Order: sequence, then C-alpha cells, then structure tokens
Amino acid sequence: MRHQRPAAPGAEGDGDPATGAHRESRARPDDDVAGASAALVIRQRPAAVTGFAYVDGVLHAEDVPLAALAERFGTPCYVYSRALLADAYRSFDSAFAGLPHLVCYAMKANPTLAILELFASLGSGFDIVSGGELVRVLAAGGDPGKVVFSGVGKSDAEMEAALDARILCFNVESASELDHLAAVAARMNVRAPISLRVNPDVDPLTHPYISTGLKESKFGVPLEDAHALYRRAARLPSIAVRGIDMHIGSQITELAPYREAAARMLSLVDALAAEGIVLEHVDLGGGLGIRYRDESPVPIADYATMVRELFAGRRERLLFEPGRRLVGDAGILLTRVRVLKPAAARNFAVVDAAMNDLLRPSLYGAWHAVDPIRLRAGAAMRWDIVGPVCESGDFLALDREIALAEGDLLAVRDAGAYAMAMSSNYNARPRACEVLVDGAAAHLIRRRETLAELHALELLLTPQTPL
Ligand code: LLP
Repeated sequence: MRHQRPAAPGAEGDGDPATGAHRESRARPDDDVAGASAALVIRQRPAAVTGFAYVDGVLHAEDVPLAALAERFGTPCYVYSRALLADAYRSFDSAFAGLPHLVCYAMKANPTLAILELFASLGSGFDIVSGGELVRVLAAGGDPGKVVFSGVGKSDAEMEAALDARILCFNVESASELDHLAAVAARMNVRAPISLRVNPDVDPLTHPYISTGLKESKFGVPLEDAHALYRRAARLPSIAVRGIDMHIGSQITELAPYREAAARMLSLVDALAAEGIVLEHVDLGGGLGIRYRDESPVPIADYATMVRELFAGRRERLLFEPGRRLVGDAGILLTRVRVLKPAAARNFAVVDAAMNDLLRPSLYGAWHAVDPIRLRAGAAMRWDIVGPVCESGDFLALDREIALAEGDLLAVRDAGAYAMAMSSNYNARPRACEVLVDGAAAHLIRRRETLAELHALELLLTPQTPL
C-alpha cells in the first residue's frame, strides 16, 4: 500500500506566485515499509519549485543538494529555505489584505538574526518575550515600533529597555506587572502603551505543555478580572491603554478554540467601549499548527475567513503573533549516522545530532519525519534514531522504517521552529551551525560553536581571591 501524502501545511493554496515557492508534497520512507524507496520515488522538481525536494534521488534545499552543504559546513547543521520562509510570511500577511493588521513574528520560534532580518524586510513586526529578544530585533534591523512584548515575568530593566526603544505595545499579564510598568514609565516620564493579555479559558486541544489559555495556566489575566484591571489601567497617568491580547496555545489544528476565545475577548472589548475605554487593536496571538506527521492544519484562508467574520463592521487593527507557522517547515536538521547498533530489542542508529539540537521529541514526545538525503537501495529496518547524549530520553525519532548505513546523511524535517531556539550545550556539545539557502546560494547565518567557546565565560577558582 502506498500513501500519497496530501500537500504539506502552508501549501493549501497559499503558494506564492511571486516566488513560485511551494511546499513539497512529501512521501516519507516510513509511510510505506516494503516500498520504502518506492515511496520516495525520485520526484523531478518542476522548474521554479522551491523548498525541500528530491531531485534524482537526492534531497535538495532549493537548488542545493544537502550533501554539498554537509560537505561544506559539517553536521549537525540546520538548513532553511529562504523561499519557504518568505512564502509563509507573505501567505499569512496577504490573507488579511484589506484589513488593518500587523503580523508580529513570534521570534522565540527561531530568533536567528538573518531570519529576523528577512521577516523585517518583508514588513514583519515581532512578538518578543525578553530584553534579549528586543536586542536581537534591533540588531537585525527590525522596527521597534512594530514590536509587542509578551511574557509573564518582565523585569524592570526589560521594561525600561522596551520603553526606551519605543515599542508598539506591552502585553501585560498581571495586575502586579501593570503596577511595575506604570512605575517604570513614570520614572522615565513616558507613557507605556499596553494591552492586557486575557486568559479566555478555552481549551486549544493541544499538548498540555503548550496550552496557555486555560484557567490553570500561568499566562494572562482571567477574563473576569480583566474588566476591573482595564478600569485601573485607564486611570494610571503613565499608562496608555491601546489594545487587548490573547494567546491560547501552540500547534493548534482547530479553528473552534480561536473563534470561542476571540468572541469572549470581543465581548469585553465592547463592554469597555461602552464605558469609554476604547481599544485600538486586538491581538489574536499565534499558535497555528503545522503538519509534522498526519495533522490537518488549519488553512490560513479558513483562519482569515473566521477572523473576517468576527471582525466584520469593527474598526480595531488586528495583530497576529505566528511563530511556528512561519518557520516550522522551512527548516531541516541535517545529521549524519555515526554508528549502527542493531540489537535484539531495538535497533539504534546513533546520529551526530541529539536532544541538545532538537529537544521536541524528548520534551513533548513530538514526532518529526526523518528522511534520507540520498535514497539507498537495500532492506529497510526499524531504527530508533538517537543522539550521542548520555540520556535514555535522547532520541530524535523512534521506530522508523528506513534503509541505513553508517555515514548516511539524514534530514530531520520541520526543524525550523523551536529547534535551534531550544538548543543547549548539554554534554559540552557545541551548538550546530545554521545555513540559509536561497536558490543556488547557501549563506552561513550562524557558524558552529567552537569547543573553546563552550567554557569561554567560566572562571577557575585557583587564581581568584575569595570575596
Ligand atoms: N505568542 C506568544 C505569547 C507565545 O507564547 C507564543 C509561543 C507564540 C505567540 C507563538 O506560538 P506559535 O505560533 O509558534 O505556536 N516549544 C514549543 C512551543 C512553545 C510555544 C511558546 N509560545 C514547541 O516546540 O512545540
């Protein structure tokens, strides 16, 4: 039996005619066991189709064979497609054409400067959650006037830096944060623009670790408390009430939770307007999911239709904070098989990438497709694709049917979001390099860390005088 995978997320009619960018309809080796190689039939890439695709049995990033990148930059290595990134942004943005809106890329998904630079050049704003992220936006040439600042624990110093930069809005998440911000702004003799992030208590139907809009969540202000807090904010001279915000979770594949949450939020907006607190913008947060395996992500067009219905006849500017949807399937993690260790209970393929490079499988039990860079003839076996880190939880993929030999290169798919962003130096492993492919050109956008850099910030006890 051969499965033909439907188009990957983002491909639902949102290909960009300008770039011809296209998300490949992927067949995966483990879709079909006996026909492992057959399932990956060499897909002749039509001209002007970009992204990740097989050409003559070799996986390419745009026009560049991934093996050439491994040769040049080494592995593990994150590889991104510029066309897929740009296409994802443009698809999202253009879905709201005609409505006053701003897309604020949730940069926590992938904060590498060149990626921010690309989105900034396309007109994107940014959703930040720390002073560090603000510094990155500025370093990448982003416009602070298009920055919203989310997060439950902003420090006074972070507030000050953001006020200094004149960001668009603070998404305030508690009464205490409002007081701190009011005090910092008063000290600086400025007014801090704010939204309250409300918690609409809606189940986003996703993994509990990435659900943020439930009553039990640490995020946001409960909807029933928000009204009183808005009244208080409106009376604070160093606060300028601008909008309202929600973010109910991540990797959401249903529209209903958004509709429900937004409708609850809009009732509050109307109640506030009735007493003279008029909001300029409504921030619907991020969270739209992508297809890692067999999920059916919400087409952007459907999401936009829902938004247009909800906002028909309204005047507020819309803000969005998509992260994963803009970058998730625009990147892969390129890794090489070091050791094959077949055994009675399980077969292990030890690769040179590990949980420190891609934590999602270990942390959330997340599933990422793993594809060979070069299709090989030979019997497929079931392998656990694991890293060299000394943890049993160090795996990238479990029980995958694939024909492998030592030295083979593999692509761990959909590693554009929350991969490099969540990487670490655990086991004294240097963080991998990042390469952005644009047609036939490959740009190194972050070089691999050196071993010496791993301890460069540390101090030995011996030469020090105790305090
Ligand atoms: N806005 C806020 C306030 C957020 O906290 C987040 C993500 C986003 C926007 C963007 O959400 P997205 O569109 O990417 O779903 N590490 C997890 C995901 C954590 C998401 C945290 N907040 C993962 O790897 O699945």
